[in-house]
Amino acid sequence: MLSDFYKCATSTQLDLICTQLINLSTRAFNANNGNIPKWEQAIEQIKTQNTGSLDFITPYLNISAHHINNLTLEKSLKQLMPWRKGPYQIGNLQLNSEWRGDMKWHRLIPHIKPLKDKVVLDVGSGNGYFTYLMAISGAEIALGIEPFLLFNYQFQAIRTLINNPPNAFVLPLLLEEMPKRPLFDTVFSMGVLYHQKNHRLHLKQLKDVMKPDGELILETFIIDLEKVEKIIPKGRYSKMRNVYCLPSVNTLHTWLEDAEFKNIKLLDITKTTSKEQRTTHWIGNNTQSLKDFLDPNNSDLTIEGLPAPRRAIFICQK
Ligand SMILES: C[S@@+](CC[C@H](N)C(=O)[O-])C[C@H]1O[C@@H](n2cnc3c(N)ncnc32)[C@H](O)[C@@H]1O
Repeated sequence: MLSDFYKCATSTQLDLICTQLINLSTRAFNANNGNIPKWEQAIEQIKTQNTGSLDFITPYLNISAHHINNLTLEKSLKQLMPWRKGPYQIGNLQLNSEWRGDMKWHRLIPHIKPLKDKVVLDVGSGNGYFTYLMAISGAEIALGIEPFLLFNYQFQAIRTLINNPPNAFVLPLLLEEMPKRPLFDTVFSMGVLYHQKNHRLHLKQLKDVMKPDGELILETFIIDLEKVEKIIPKGRYSKMRNVYCLPSVNTLHTWLEDAEFKNIKLLDITKTTSKEQRTTHWIGNNTQSLKDFLDPNNSDLTIEGLPAPRRAIFICQK
């Protein structure tokens, strides 16, 4: 996969940083992680299946492979659980991930600059569901960066099943590790800002990698309470340990202004429902999902008594 990334990236502006990205990724893949043999074995088994072409047939990223052995493929893919992002369909095997990623995609895609021929960065890409969508929307290259190794292996598992994969790649990198070079036309940061202790630094790092006039699509939790600027969760939020800040829409707008982004527009606010985030048999033993994270008597509150998850999408330019 790294050699395919090299081949593709060297024919784009990412040529300037691609050796550096490959060196960092090689180091990350060599991490001492006891699950790697199991994940690699799963990929080896997946390689024995037929490949097919990739399309978006909503809600699925669909691989039209014939004569797939569903039982064997399902067993291999389940070695890579939990599948949070998706959904995918391979032949007639439906991989119904916890999240219906298509719902977020449809909210934003009509409003952003066309991705055709663009150099695109998907920060915190998970297994690359959106990165694939960016590539099949015509990006010259769509690079996902995702520090969690399992999601990199999930990306590779899906890629193994695609005949002639599009120019989408996921590398095990943090935004903090990206060279500060303004090379990307469009940058997505979706579901990442609230995981950052320092929101200012995250916005600056996004800006550092964007071309002049490049576009940022920022999606994050917000709160909608009168006269409350932000909430800093003291413990967990929606059972998540690492949620550092829930701004109001106005506060988030101010953060983007302070970071000197231009043409800041709010595209959408959506309260997360169990249509979009649900328990499926692809998420493993810990089968908790949205319904377990909310107050059983009041779906406007989380189990911790904070406002239930609501996400905003902003777009702005550098
Ligand atoms: C909630 S998921 C969102 C996935 C996907 N972007 C989406 O919108 O569904 C956030 C992802 O960001 C990754 N992440 C967190 N901090 C990051 C950072 N500093 N750089 C890159 N990725 C990061 C996490 O590992 C996680 O997979």
